[in-house]
Amino acid sequence: MKAILCEQWGGPETLRLAEVPLPQPGPGQVRIRIAAAGVNFPDVLIIQKKYQVQPQLPFVPGAEVAGTVEAVGDGVRDIQAGAAVAALCGTGGFAEACVVDAAQCVLLPPDLPMDLAAGLVLAWGTAWHALRDRAALCEGETLLVLGAAGGVGLAAVQIGKAIGARVIAAAGTPEKVDLCRRQGADEGFDYEREDLRETVRRLTDGTGPAVVFDAVGGRFSEPALRSIAWRGRHLVVGFAAGAVPAIALNLPLLKGASLIGVFWGEFAKREPRRHAEGLREILDWIAQGRIRPLVSRRYALADAPRALADLAARAATGKVIVVP
Ligand SMILES: NC(=O)c1ccc[n+]([C@@H]2O[C@H](COP(=O)([O-])OP(=O)(O)OC[C@H]3O[C@@H](n4cnc5c(N)ncnc54)[C@H](OP(=O)(O)O)[C@@H]3O)[C@@H](O)[C@H]2O)c1
Repeated sequence: MKAILCEQWGGPETLRLAEVPLPQPGPGQVRIRIAAAGVNFPDVLIIQKKYQVQPQLPFVPGAEVAGTVEAVGDGVRDIQAGAAVAALCGTGGFAEACVVDAAQCVLLPPDLPMDLAAGLVLAWGTAWHALRDRAALCEGETLLVLGAAGGVGLAAVQIGKAIGARVIAAAGTPEKVDLCRRQGADEGFDYEREDLRETVRRLTDGTGPAVVFDAVGGRFSEPALRSIAWRGRHLVVGFAAGAVPAIALNLPLLKGASLIGVFWGEFAKREPRRHAEGLREILDWIAQGRIRPLVSRRYALADAPRALADLAARAATGKVIVVP
């Protein structure tokens, strides 16, 4: 089968399309014929050896897929060949097929498009875990989302609205801010051109957001935490800007606020039932029309390196997917 191979640590330009053996499912595993694979920022990091998980070289990047089960290993009871599933694979997704533990598969409703399903598990799972599980965001609260037009960010915007929060979207271009508004954000601003603290103060009548969803880090984290409401919750989700900020601990003290770490991959492993509840709620919200994941661009398998380069260059919005 065809797959994108990472044979040396480096940027997307070091990846190549190759012919590799079709993987066989072991006990408890299934092989999925991939219809679409979600592209995520961690894929950009993992090929450069900058991610917390470091696979052995060579490996096939691509952390999540949607497709049809075509082979089932010994001991798998709940999933049969022919089932439409989405799955977290960690690596192996930028290929025509991949093998995953059956426990990582979510059965899909028959009418859900595969390209939409391919981006659900990781980005939407992360935003759900952060907002629902870690911050317990409530109806009527104000949510500030940094990097709101990205994969995880736009999921946070839509989940915030599904919960009934007032959502302020912060993104790096006027076009991205407009996109966030079209996707349901109540307010939006360009944090590259407008002062974050001033703007958030103005948009919240001086109160500040109850919850900050921070998947960007860098120079935006501190002003976001400084502008948070009394008893606010600042969700530490990621550092797409590159720098991991060092925050003075007097800041959460002064607001009676909480800094909350979000590590979705570990959550999904340690708390599989709660993770499955999250995915069920996301699928319910889709069925009810309360959320609509945005797939903004589709790349052919050979162009997966281009997809990763676009993500790294802040040129992607919503979910982008690779279609083998
Ligand atoms: N904690 C977890 O469990 C978990 C799970 C999944 C992902 N993550 C993290 O969440 C972050 C977002 O992931 P994603 O897949 O949603 O990525 P994405 O779609 O590329 O979104 C990242 C956003 O960050 C902003 N950004 C600011 N500076 C950037 C820079 N120098 N380079 C790239 N982007 C920059 C961009 O928006 P603007 O251009 O508008 O600023 C972009 O839309 C990543 O850091 C990822 O590692 C964490």
